[in-house]
Amino acid sequence: MNMVDIILKKKAGQSLTREEIHYFVEGAAKGTVPDYQLSALLMAICFQGMDAEETTTLTMEMMHSGSVVDLSGIGEICVDKHSTGGVGDTTTLVLVPLVAACGVKVAKISGRGLGHTGGTLDKLESIPGCTIDMDEERFIRQVQQVGCAVIGQTKELCPADKALYALRDVTGTVGSIPLIASSIVSKKLASGAGAIVLDVKTGSGALMHTVEDSVRLARTMVAIGKRAGKPIYAVVTGMQQPLGTHIGNALEVKEAIDLLSGRARGDLLTVSIGLGARMLMAAGKAESLENAEAMLQEALASGRGLAKLKEMIAAQGGDARVCDDVTLLPQAAERVRVRAPGDGWVCGMDTTAIGYCAQDLGAGRRTKADRIDPAVGIVMQARLGQYVKAGETLAELYVNKRDGVEEIARRLTEAIRIGETKPEAAPLFYASIGPWDV
Ligand code: URA
Ligand code: CA
Repeated sequence: MNMVDIILKKKAGQSLTREEIHYFVEGAAKGTVPDYQLSALLMAICFQGMDAEETTTLTMEMMHSGSVVDLSGIGEICVDKHSTGGVGDTTTLVLVPLVAACGVKVAKISGRGLGHTGGTLDKLESIPGCTIDMDEERFIRQVQQVGCAVIGQTKELCPADKALYALRDVTGTVGSIPLIASSIVSKKLASGAGAIVLDVKTGSGALMHTVEDSVRLARTMVAIGKRAGKPIYAVVTGMQQPLGTHIGNALEVKEAIDLLSGRARGDLLTVSIGLGARMLMAAGKAESLENAEAMLQEALASGRGLAKLKEMIAAQGGDARVCDDVTLLPQAAERVRVRAPGDGWVCGMDTTAIGYCAQDLGAGRRTKADRIDPAVGIVMQARLGQYVKAGETLAELYVNKRDGVEEIARRLTEAIRIGETKPEAAPLFYASIGPWDV
C-alpha cells in the first residue's frame, strides 16, 4: 500500500477501499505514516468528502484502533449521550441523574473542555473530592449500584482519532462532516454504550453554524450507527446563545443543582429533559416522548433527580453536601458587572467569543498544560429577545485575577449585540433524527 496513491485517489474524488482506510488509520495510530501525508489526505477529504460506506468504514477502523470498553457486565442496556460541544451547556449534569432516577443505567465517558467549549470532567472536578478517574471494574460497580457514573477514559480509546484530531486542529481540517462524524461516533462506539443520543448543536457557539450543516452531520452520525448495528438518535439543538446562564466549572455545577432543586428553570432544563426523554426511549423505558418527558418531570419534582446526583457525587468521592449548600463549591474572590452600552433589544450573540471570555478568565485551557480555576466564569443575565436599558447588567464576571479583566469585559460587551428591532425567537429544537429516518 502506498500513501501517495491513497492521497491522489481521494484528491481525484474517488472512494477509498476498506484496505486503504485501514492503512492510513493504522498509520495514524502507530505513527508509521508521517503527519504531512496524513494532513494532505485530511485536506483532500475536506474538499472531496466521503460516501456513507467510507465514512462508516473510517469510523469502525478508528474505533478498533484502540481498546473497546465492555459494559456487558452491567447486564442491562446502558445509554450514553454526547454533545458536539457548546457554551453553558451542562446538560450532562442535569440529565444523567434524572435518567438514572427513572431506572435507566447511564455509563458515561466524558471529555474535558475543548476550544471555547466546556467539558463535563472539568466541571465534576470542581466539586471538592470528586474524582473522574476510576478503573473499569469500579466504574461498572458504580453503574450497577448507583445507576450512573461519569468518568474520564480508562484505557486508550481511539488513538487514531487522537492523532488525526490533533492534526486537524492545526491544519484547518476540523470542519468536515465525515471527519467530525467518524471522530465522535468512533469514540462513542468504543465506550461501550448500547444506545446513544447525540446532541448536535447549531448556531454561533457550535461547530456547525448553519442548520443545514448541523442536520447533515446529525443524519451522517445516525446512519453510521445504523450501518454499525448500534441505535443512534440525534437531536439538533440551538446554540445561538449560551444554553444555561452560568459559564464556568463550579458555576455550571451550581446551575445544575439549582435546576434539580427546582429553584431555577430555563432553556438548559428544557434541552436536558428533551435529550433525557430520547435516552429513556432509546433504552425502551418509555413508549412515547410525552410519556418519557412526564417521567423525567416527575423525577425532577419529587427531588429523586437531585438525590441521584448526590449519590453519584458521593460514590465518586465528592462532597455531596454541595447539593444542599452550593456555597461549598469553589467561590471567586470578586464579581465584575458588564453593563449594556445603550437601550435596545438583545438581538444576537457571538457565543464562541463568550466561551473564549470565560476561558480567558481561567475557566478553560489555552494549552494542554494550563490549570483551570474552577471558581471563575460568567453568569449571563441577558437573553436573546430581551429589552435592556443603558447601564443595565448584561452579565457578571466571576474573577480571581484582576489582570486583563477590563479587556475581557469589553470583548463580552461586543459579543452581545444590541439593536433596534426585536429578533424573532429561535427554536431550541430544530430536528430529531432516528435510525428510521436515514
Ligand atoms: N468532537 C469530536 O470528538 N470530534 C470532532 O471532530 C469534533 C468534535
Ligand atoms: Ca461537552
